[in-house]
Amino acid sequence: MSPITSLFNQLPPDETLFENIAVALEQQGYVILPNALPDTVTDGLIDYLAEVQDSHFHPAAIGRGDDQTHNTFVRRDRIHWLDEENSKGDVWFRWTRDLRHYLNRRLLLGLFSFESQFAHYQPGDFYKKHVDAFRGQANRVLTLVTYLNRGWEPDQGGELVIYQETGEELARVTPSFGSLVIFLSEEFPHEVLPALRDRYSVAGWFRINNSIGNRIDPAR
Ligand code: OGA
Ligand code: MN
Repeated sequence: MSPITSLFNQLPPDETLFENIAVALEQQGYVILPNALPDTVTDGLIDYLAEVQDSHFHPAAIGRGDDQTHNTFVRRDRIHWLDEENSKGDVWFRWTRDLRHYLNRRLLLGLFSFESQFAHYQPGDFYKKHVDAFRGQANRVLTLVTYLNRGWEPDQGGELVIYQETGEELARVTPSFGSLVIFLSEEFPHEVLPALRDRYSVAGWFRINNSIGNRIDPAR
């Protein structure tokens, strides 16, 4: 084993995961890692989700600020924004902050903040092909998605389909427990196919600071 390899093997586990993410983002702009989120992080998210339950989910708005609309032709899922003040989110927010700092150091991305939401898709719900950020106005730089569904079977649908900008399909992701998907928000159109069972995901966005003078970035 070379000195460099042995040094790499001695890094704490998250650093290895973070480095794998950085390399993939650098090379192809996206990464899919089955069953990758550490147990401590998924445990925290499961506790948080149990607290929120269905009564605190609401239809997702599309667009930001005054442009917000509820378009059930585009997306049918219901969402709940995670609150950084809620202690049940501590492990999740710490892990995403560590990842953000790592990627900033490693890829000089200048990621400034992070926001995330639980999404609940009931059987038949979908989210049509979309991008998470638009060129020029984008302050969402990186999208992160993870899943909280145990025992997802291949015939249960609900895949996340990721496309190239040119339209070709790049990948289909089964929404299995702890799988991690990260991609450049402007570059990869994607969609959620209808599922046969309840589907829980957590989507998060790393943002650059887009405040201009006194104009604070619009509320979501
Ligand atoms: C989103 C999204 C993907 C998923 O919420 O913007 O694309 O697999 N989610 O839940
Ligand atoms: Mn999306």
